[in-house]
Amino acid sequence: MSEVEEKKEAEKVEGNVVPIGMKVGSQRTVIAKGDEVIVVETCIKEKENPITGEKDYVVGNEAAELYGDEAVYMLRGGLPGNEEEAELLKIFLTKIAKAYEIPENSYVTYGIPSTETEEGVNLFKKVISQVPIGWAGKEVWNDSFLAALALPEGLGMLEKTFIVVNLGSSTTDVVAVRKGEIVFSMVTGEVSGDLVDRWIKNEIMNLTRGAVNVDLSTAREYKEKYANLKEWKRVEEKVQLFEKGQFSFRLDEAVNKPVERYLDALVDFITLEFLPSLAEFNFKAYKVLLESEFILTGGMAEIPGLKEKFAAKLSEALGFGVKVRSPENPLTASARGALLISQLRVRRG
Ligand SMILES: Nc1ncnc2c1ncn2[C@@H]1O[C@H](COP(=O)(O)OP(=O)(O)OP(=O)(O)O)[C@@H](O)[C@H]1O
Ligand SMILES: [Mg+2]
Repeated sequence: MSEVEEKKEAEKVEGNVVPIGMKVGSQRTVIAKGDEVIVVETCIKEKENPITGEKDYVVGNEAAELYGDEAVYMLRGGLPGNEEEAELLKIFLTKIAKAYEIPENSYVTYGIPSTETEEGVNLFKKVISQVPIGWAGKEVWNDSFLAALALPEGLGMLEKTFIVVNLGSSTTDVVAVRKGEIVFSMVTGEVSGDLVDRWIKNEIMNLTRGAVNVDLSTAREYKEKYANLKEWKRVEEKVQLFEKGQFSFRLDEAVNKPVERYLDALVDFITLEFLPSLAEFNFKAYKVLLESEFILTGGMAEIPGLKEKFAAKLSEALGFGVKVRSPENPLTASARGALLISQLRVRRG
């Protein structure tokens, strides 16, 4: 055993390994460490040191705040698509690890989305092998699956049968789990949080007859603040435009109508694409899964009343009452589920 390995081994015995759960999403990266949950924008901005001319990088929330739309979100569907994006991800994760004090002597469980292409997964695995954390060990799980572990049953969910519907920014991921094993999954970009942002932008244009054209990040902020299917509260927004004068519009309408449209598209995807494909793939599993429960997670599941409306619409479409549950704080559920796995590994040493 080398000196370094010996030291690592000794630290492990002393129980110094820090368990970490991490979900790297196209939009936000979530880190769970002890009771702490950290949410960071998954973006990076390259800049030049004015004195040395060397390349430097600003990452995460600082990059988003300082550079806005100029910051690069390097992932699509939660994974890098090529070597260049993988390199940016590596720099991002290395800087984030340092900034949020994730020690090298840690055990890291990563959550990543389902995907049709192995390439992204391989690139991701290569990246995490180069980031200086997780010396005690690392593993990669499906992030939708991990979100289910954030339900009150915790690791008890590993024994259960359910369907996870993961509502992300660039994709929606539907994953069927039977007795803790993923039987079938489907990803779509046709239903996504980003699309809702675009529809909100258009809706504001419509409501102001083309006068108010907000950028997509403003549309997203409006959505995250005002989308509410539980209590549709009237919100009036006023915008002062230099030449055109003042415009006011109903922000609640601009936001909630697109969210309703999103929900309809989601229910269509599940009933017309996911369930028929599952039935074709494995009819027995399909029958059992339909009677189990749907677990709604991902950032879009944060919208108040979305779960209830989803349950009502899905039940109506299927002709019977479906069970729908959501973990608390669906935006961070995957990372918290991942932390449970790391804690289990560290306890068992
Ligand atoms: N409080 C909120 N209310 C409404 N929408 C929200 C809220 N918080 C996050 N979102 C939306 O959820 C989406 C992000 O969800 P999530 O973090 O699960 O995505 P991701 O995993 O990064 O993306 P992908 O799955 O496409 O890789 C965005 O569209 C974001 O605007
Ligand atoms: Mg996601």
